[in-house]
Amino acid sequence: MMDVKSIRKDFPILSTKMNGKPLVYLDNAATSQKPASVIERISEYYRTYNANIHRGIYKIAEEATEEYIKSKNNVAKFINAAGMEEIIYTKNTTESINLVALSWGSANIKKGDHILITEMEHHSNLVPWQLLAKRNGAILDYVKLDKSRNHLDIGSLEEQLEKDPKIVAVTQVSNVLGTINDVKSISKKAHKHGAKVLVDGAQSAPHMPIDVKSIDCDFFAFSSHKMLGPTGIGVLYAKREILEGMSPIIGGGDMISTVDYYSCTWNELPWKFEAGTSNIADAIGFGAAIDYLNKIGMENIHSYEQGITKYALQELSNIKNVKIFGPSYDEIKRRSGVISFGIGNVHAHDIAQVFDSEGIAIRAGHHCAMPLVTNELGQSAVARMSFYIYNTKSEFETVLNAIRKVKKIFMVD
Ligand SMILES: Cc1ncc(COP(=O)(O)O)c(C=O)c1O
Repeated sequence: MMDVKSIRKDFPILSTKMNGKPLVYLDNAATSQKPASVIERISEYYRTYNANIHRGIYKIAEEATEEYIKSKNNVAKFINAAGMEEIIYTKNTTESINLVALSWGSANIKKGDHILITEMEHHSNLVPWQLLAKRNGAILDYVKLDKSRNHLDIGSLEEQLEKDPKIVAVTQVSNVLGTINDVKSISKKAHKHGAKVLVDGAQSAPHMPIDVKSIDCDFFAFSSHKMLGPTGIGVLYAKREILEGMSPIIGGGDMISTVDYYSCTWNELPWKFEAGTSNIADAIGFGAAIDYLNKIGMENIHSYEQGITKYALQELSNIKNVKIFGPSYDEIKRRSGVISFGIGNVHAHDIAQVFDSEGIAIRAGHHCAMPLVTNELGQSAVARMSFYIYNTKSEFETVLNAIRKVKKIFMVD
């Protein structure tokens, strides 16, 4: 069980106000808030052992290197990777996916090859593949949504797999619909056709236990800032044998073993992919975020969030003219704590503005998933609230009040 009252005390921002009202932060799918332990670990590095990593042979440089490596080991364990050699630090999920498309993709995807993604991808797992397809003359295919517009159509997946794509790239959790995709089963099907599998874990790693060995994906990408850690640091996990065969896309310091005037050899994993001075402070902060999540337990986090999401969906389903995009509460097992919604014909930006006046932070727009929101949901924008470990049912009461206010201002029945 989670003690949310005491968890909330760990987050300094949660005792602040927005527009004179207690802050109700429901934009966790965009970025999460940070506990004091993360902020303090970053500050401690700068205050007491700030030094560059790897080459130093003095005490504080060794300490910084040790903490950086500890963070990587922490991440490896968190997702059950074989070891920290399989953990590449990047800026974020976006950079991780681009790294795969630029390095593995450029070397392995040729003219006429198929790349398979889905209609529910974030632009970060769509644009890099569009660019690669254009560069290499490959064909980009999509797994369709089913009739409910809430889930992937498995028939469409199977049909597309008959084309033997070189890679299947799919999100584990949709940042618009909240849908949880069965990436383990998708991975198994894709491997039967010889495809590599990339899982976009931006919306899953913060909220549920992740086991990359069990999923058996070849690549897994996620961001620290959505899981209590700092911005500016993300992860690309890949199976060791795949990373060994991949070339770096950025050259410079730290990623080499030897250099002469006209050639060089690569450093060992994972350093081959981390050119230049690393984001040391944020890596250390990320390690602290993982410590914090581990202390609560990812199973506990997942079940707490499903509880509050189910409650919210049930309440929302009782309100006239509120439309939910994504699976309903009776499919809670296939759903995360992201709820996209609309109120009558009120524009999503107007909804967000009224919420803001009530101290509630939500997001409105296409959520970087334009093909999904525009083509599949038929909306120019949707409002989205998204929960995390510190959100409570009583905060949701303020959401219900804000919805009443929106309805009153815009004269929705
Ligand atoms: C499903 C999904 N993939 C990728 C991203 C991109 O994450 P980042 O901006 O941290 O690179 C996001 C961010 O919202 C996301 O929701």
